[in-house]
Amino acid sequence: MAAHPISSHSHNAADLAAVLTNTNTTLRNASLLSALALVQQLPAMFVEAEDQRPVLEMDGDPLAFSHLIPIVDMSLLKSSDPAVRASSVADIAAACEKFGFFQVVNHGVDESLIRRCETEAHTMFELPLDVKERVHRPPGTSFGYGANTWVNQTVMHWAESFHMQLHPKSNIREFSGKLFAESDPTKFSSTVEEYMGQIEKLARQLLELLTEGLGLEPTTFNHYVENERMMSMRFNLYPPCPQPELAIGLRAHTDPHLLTILHQDEVAGLQVHIDEKWITVKPRPDCFVVNVGDLFQVLSNTRYKSVLHRAAVNGTSKRLSLACFLNPPLSATVEAPPELITAERPQVYRPFTWGEYLSNAYKFHPAMGGERHERFFLERS
Ligand code: OGA
Ligand code: NI
Repeated sequence: MAAHPISSHSHNAADLAAVLTNTNTTLRNASLLSALALVQQLPAMFVEAEDQRPVLEMDGDPLAFSHLIPIVDMSLLKSSDPAVRASSVADIAAACEKFGFFQVVNHGVDESLIRRCETEAHTMFELPLDVKERVHRPPGTSFGYGANTWVNQTVMHWAESFHMQLHPKSNIREFSGKLFAESDPTKFSSTVEEYMGQIEKLARQLLELLTEGLGLEPTTFNHYVENERMMSMRFNLYPPCPQPELAIGLRAHTDPHLLTILHQDEVAGLQVHIDEKWITVKPRPDCFVVNVGDLFQVLSNTRYKSVLHRAAVNGTSKRLSLACFLNPPLSATVEAPPELITAERPQVYRPFTWGEYLSNAYKFHPAMGGERHERFFLERS
């Protein structure tokens, strides 16, 4: 199943030399990874703290606990038998309450479109470093090609990433025009737009199902993602790592967003923190992994959980994931509806705007702590 062996990477020795002799932190931030696939020993800046290092093998079986993340067959939601549909909605709600994660199969997104989008992502990452630098993401900003970094993070992720936005204002054609100026920019941009459009439809459908699972009118939260909304996608590429046991692809985090719809290829790496253990989500290229983001935890008044997850890396195969995020507009006030505020479950968070939350989201790292959420707790008098 190892689809992309280390020898197939496109980075060359000139890239490596350029990076190793360059002390410019911008270059270092954005492109070190491209070149480092060539080194035998993990450079110090990628050596993760001992207690944060992931282990892919669990009890000898790398996928031992993957059955814990439920797979929901979305075709059952169309059943003419109301009991079948109700039981699927209940499964989704239970998964969001217990794990904050579930997977969906028969989700309606064309298999061939997923493959085409993955192909475009690989084509993009395989472009020469100086071409990718045309869409460089400056540290502290959101969109473009670079490294996923949090403020104050000292250890670098073993990953390249490329983050694009479809709404409110698409930057996809502009990025594509710069990356593929010498070839055909429309192939990349039209594939990505088509993919994100289908994922957005799926995400809206899931938003209604999750809302229904809370016992609310399914459309209760639709106003958050109607005309004005934010929809973005990050390609994450995790190259083969010379010492995967010392590195991390993406540190433990919760997603600040409303909903995340992630597609992982056939290489394992995504791990979810459940009952004090890291559970590897077994790759199923016919599935999407769906997770509750912080905003949905807030809207559900903590009935649904935004759960820590991370990406481990390996020594032999590169791994690609496509992560789509659905969000309200920055000005939207995020607040649990009165139906979910009860004597047994009092209001946990104060009302805030998504813009306010987002401006804090990458400053305060929630790994193992939750400081980020606490800033938005309701102050009790
Ligand atoms: C993310 C994420 C996991 C993965 O992009 O937020 O959690 O497997 N990605 O790439
Ligand atoms: Ni995430």
